[in-house]
Amino acid sequence: MKKFMSDEFLSLKNKEDIIVLAIESSCDETAVSIVKNGREVLANLVSSQIEIHRRFGGVVPEIASRNHLMAISNLYFEALKEANITPNQIDAVAVTYGAGLMGALLVGINFAKGLSYALKKPLIAVNHVHGHIASNYISHPSLTPPFLCLMVSGGHTAILKISDYNKFKMLGSTVDDAVGEAFDKVARVLDLPYPGGPEIDKLAREGKNIIKFTVSNSLHGTLNFSFSGIKTSVINYVHKLFQKGEQIPKADIARSFEECVTDELVDKTMRAMKISGMNKIVIAGGVGANSMLQSKMEEMCKRNGYQVFYPMLKYCTDNACMIGSAAYYYIKKGIGLASLDLTAKPNIDL
Ligand code: KG4
Ligand code: ZN
Repeated sequence: MKKFMSDEFLSLKNKEDIIVLAIESSCDETAVSIVKNGREVLANLVSSQIEIHRRFGGVVPEIASRNHLMAISNLYFEALKEANITPNQIDAVAVTYGAGLMGALLVGINFAKGLSYALKKPLIAVNHVHGHIASNYISHPSLTPPFLCLMVSGGHTAILKISDYNKFKMLGSTVDDAVGEAFDKVARVLDLPYPGGPEIDKLAREGKNIIKFTVSNSLHGTLNFSFSGIKTSVINYVHKLFQKGEQIPKADIARSFEECVTDELVDKTMRAMKISGMNKIVIAGGVGANSMLQSKMEEMCKRNGYQVFYPMLKYCTDNACMIGSAAYYYIKKGIGLASLDLTAKPNIDL
């Protein structure tokens, strides 16, 4: 059976201007954007639930879904207003279908399906990781593949070779925790508010004494990462001090953890650059906002003659512009068309 709007989808790639309405609801941000030709943002609306989840110390999936449901239709109407377009000017509806929280993803998916059906526009299913990579196309209008990507978010940590817009190869990835997850868990044991990454980033700047934490040696010589060992060492270190009734040097711990983790990310990225023969590095995902990671990466790139790109801060963490940009490149390649029975895939990778 032919997919809904498949003829329209296939002819869309030849249209001069393509306007995509994109929806992102994979975690705790409800976002709706309108993006023209993959690079030009006409509207960018993000409703963050951070304050709601903060009191629980992390994202509560059921609460996230309910709040997406309350926010999404208003964001859609606001986006149309901000872009100053009418619904029939939209060429396609794009939505994140994974990875993420099942219930949260389903809210965005079902809204997108309804919209696609009502407006008679193709529905495009976008992989969240592809979106994070595409956030750099919006931030840097002249950036084009090929490049190497360091993907560092709350759910993923990987080094990817991007040979073309839709040609991805995983060179290495985490064998346990994602780096953002490790940041958030270390922050939690230090009693810092959720989300922990930005808090560790700030506190680490005040740290003076380095405590010797290390990442697992077993992956030395590979392009894979492991962050669960260092996370557990930090947690044990804090618990021991607590049991002895000693003061916890939070800033020193934050700095020591961050130094170790960022060294590991930069070292392996440099090794991957040498192996792959690339000369451009693109950082993607929420941890890409980390100031120590950025400054170390910049220094090493300068030394080696590589160019480095980060998404603008507002496109580092979850947003729908990145989904609209990724969808544009899917359309150009004739991939990503979904049927109206699209469902969420909480665990997809690339
Ligand atoms: O990409 P993202 O918004 O969502 C996922 O797709 O996971 O990433 C969220 C992660 C969280 O773990 C958050 O603590 C981390 O990015 N993060 C940071 C910083 N800003 C956000 N980690 C370290 N330093 C930061 N400045
Ligand atoms: Zn994300």
